[in-house]
This record gives sequence, C-alpha cells and structure tokens, in this order.
Amino acid sequence: MSKDQIPPDSPAPRASWGSRIGFIFAVAGSAVGLANIWRFPYIVGQNGGAAFILVYLLCLLFIGFPVFISEIIIGRSTCLSPSGAFRKLGGASWGWAGKLTIATGFFVSAFYSAVAGWILGYLIEAVGGQISSFTAIADARLHHQSLMENPLWGLGFHFSFLLICTLVLLLGVRGGIERGNKIMMPLLFIMLMFLAVYGLMMPNAHVGLTYLLNPNWGALTPQAFLMALGQAFFTLSLGQGTMVTYGSYLKKNENLMASCVPVVLMDTCVSLLSAIAVFTIVFSVGIEPNAGPGLIFHTLPWVFSQIPSGHLLAVAFFLLVLMAALTSEISAMEPTIAYLIDDWGWKRKTAVLCCGAGAFLLGVPAALSYSVLKNTTISGMAIVDLMDLLATSILIPLGGFLAVVLAGWRWGIPQVLHHMEQGFPQLFEKYRWLIYYFWFCIKFSAPILIILVFLNAFGIF
Ligand code: PHE
Repeated sequence: MSKDQIPPDSPAPRASWGSRIGFIFAVAGSAVGLANIWRFPYIVGQNGGAAFILVYLLCLLFIGFPVFISEIIIGRSTCLSPSGAFRKLGGASWGWAGKLTIATGFFVSAFYSAVAGWILGYLIEAVGGQISSFTAIADARLHHQSLMENPLWGLGFHFSFLLICTLVLLLGVRGGIERGNKIMMPLLFIMLMFLAVYGLMMPNAHVGLTYLLNPNWGALTPQAFLMALGQAFFTLSLGQGTMVTYGSYLKKNENLMASCVPVVLMDTCVSLLSAIAVFTIVFSVGIEPNAGPGLIFHTLPWVFSQIPSGHLLAVAFFLLVLMAALTSEISAMEPTIAYLIDDWGWKRKTAVLCCGAGAFLLGVPAALSYSVLKNTTISGMAIVDLMDLLATSILIPLGGFLAVVLAGWRWGIPQVLHHMEQGFPQLFEKYRWLIYYFWFCIKFSAPILIILVFLNAFGIF
C-alpha cells in the first residue's frame, strides 16, 4: 500500500483488497443476496413481468448506479469508515449522517441474520431429505409452520449463521472477506446456472417464462415503480455504509469503472437468472407462485417433492441462497467493524466479536417473530417484517440520499469526477458523455427520485 493511501487520522495502515477481481467478488457478494434470489422473482411476477423489469433497469441506471458510484468514491477518496468519510468530505455535522448509515447497516445485519438463519435451517432439512418428500402442499406448509414455531430452531440458526459470518470477518479484509467471496461467488454462479438450465428443461418451462417475461403494462402502477426503486437500493446494498466501507479498501490506482460496472451487471444477471429458475421450476408442477416467505419455504419444497432429483435440487437451492446471504451479511457488519477500528481505535478481533454479539442480541426478537413473539405485532406485522420495513422504506433511502447529496451538492461534481478518473485518467476523454450522465444523475435524478420514495413511504401518494 502506498503512503498516500493512509489518511492522517487513521490509526493504522488501512487494509486493502488484494486484487481487482477480489474487490469485484466482494462487492458482488454483498449485492447478491436474498433480495435477488427470493424477493426479485416474486415482485417481478406480481408487478407486470417484463414491464417491471424495464422500470427496474431504469431505476438502476438513473438512481442505483450513480448512488453506488458515489458511495464507493466517498470511501475510496477518504480511506475511512462512513463516519470519518462523511465528516472529512462534508464537515463535522455530516459525521452524524455517516454514523446513521453505519447504524442502518448494523440494524439490517441483525434481522437479515434471523432470516438467513431460517435458510440455514432449511439447508439442514434439505440435506436430511425432509423438505423433498411431501405428499401434499398443505404438509409443506405445516412443516414450515412447525419449524417457525420452535423458538430454539430460530434462535439456534440465527446464532449459527452469525457465528460463521463472525469467523470469516475475524480473518480480516483479504484473508476473510476477499477469500470467502472468491470461493462462494463462483460457486453461487455455477449453482444458479445449473438451476436455471434445469428449470428451462422442465415441462411447462414456457409457461413460467411467459409469466415472467410477458410485459403487462396494466400492472405497472406507481406503486410498482416505487417497489422497483426500493429493490434497486436494497440489492446494491446502498444507504447503509457498506459500499463506502468496501470502497475505502479499494486502491486509488484501480480503474473504478472497470471494477464497478461488472458488479452491477452480475447483480442484475443473478436476479434475472433466479427469476427464470424459480418460475420455470414452480410452473413445471402447474401451481401459481405465491409471494413472500411462502415461495421459498413451502411452495418450492412442495415442488422439490414432485420432481425428479428434487432432493439434490433442494440442497443446491438452499446452499445457493445461504451463500448469497452469507456474503451479504458479512458486508452489512463490516461498516460497524471499520467504524470501531477507525474511530474508537479497537482491535479488529474485539470489534468483530462485539459486532457479532450485538447483531445476535438485536436479531433475537426477529428470530422469535413467529414463535414466542408471534402475538407481538404492530398493524398485523411481525417484528421481523417491521424491522425490514423500517430499514427498506426509511433508513436505507435516507442513507442513500445523504450519500448522493454529500457527493453531488456538498463535495461537488468536479471532485467526484476527478476521483472517478483516478486509475484511468483517459476516462472522460474516451467517454465524454459520462460527464453529463454522472452530473445529471448524482445532482438531480437520484436525489429527486429518492425523495419520491420517501413521500411514498409516508403515504403521501
Ligand atoms: N444486497 C443484499 C441483498 O440483495 C442485502 C444487503 C443488506 C446487503 C444489507 C448488505 C447489507 O440481499
């Protein structure tokens, strides 16, 4: 690491990614998660198929990608955790905005782990063959219910999932996060390709594809537009300090566009492939896919019980989802860890252990949402859903908004463009239109459209 990368107020030489591909896999690992494999397929199905996909891609282009680049640049130019980075670029009061994004990441890591714990539990069930041998869909539902009502099952897997993440994080940025992602991401792609090809070879695959790809413009309500926006944010892990932190480990001589564009492409491909795999497999047995947790926890197990090699497929599927969740969870915890190291001078080991323990405790109510705490609901929503709603509708858009306003209005577009060129000085000579694109998106389209998401969250539309 060169000297100019060590900021004066950083206590120790900062960790950095070992290679560009290591960065790409780590950032893609953060982005690709439950939102791609679980959520994307059913929101596409519900909101107009290909019409929704088009709106989603526009949201990525005009909001998601510019916010993503802004966050990476904020991190890379300062080499600090979000709190220090926001403070350095915006002044003392902006430090609070950075801290808010760190708190959001920590909050997300708590309930995300509870949900991912259920996935881990289902993987164990899949290995034992329990979720590929149902004789009726009602049995799959009952089995799901009985697992969720067992508090020890939920807590035990929430704990185990966090333990795995904590162990990877203890190994550090290169040895843990980078190496873990380099192993898990290619595996995830191979498994997803396998599932998508398998799905396309199933009888009735064309029905699933039609359901997914037929543009139904009538289903494209303003609500669908806002859902696309929320999905773009959550899937790119924006607004919660993750990309600022991962950007802070990126060397200044790295070509930013060559590192970041593949990530967004990969994330989008995974979403589309997941949708293809899920719908072709589900339609092959002639049932309508349903939304939410049901899709993954009882519809799919029922399908696995119907089709040849269902056992193997169930294991492959839950392993895939688990790996996607692991790499995302690690990235949700890292901003807090980087903050404790940077601002409080803690050793990495202490920071990781405290963050793991804290995320476990905060996630306990989420893990118990459908067992001990199943009667504790607000407007009929379980605790885990409330935590999810608070994060995705308020905290995450707010964090993304603050980052893009900091970059576009407080720090300034000339600075942003200057830092974009580092590592590839001919960038704007070769692609002049990028200047207009980033100027328009970072200064106008992204912040304005995020405000619209907010207005929607507060029910103003
Ligand atoms: N991007 C992840 C997903 O698509 C979610 C995530 C949340 C990642 C929080 C990091 C932090 O599931």
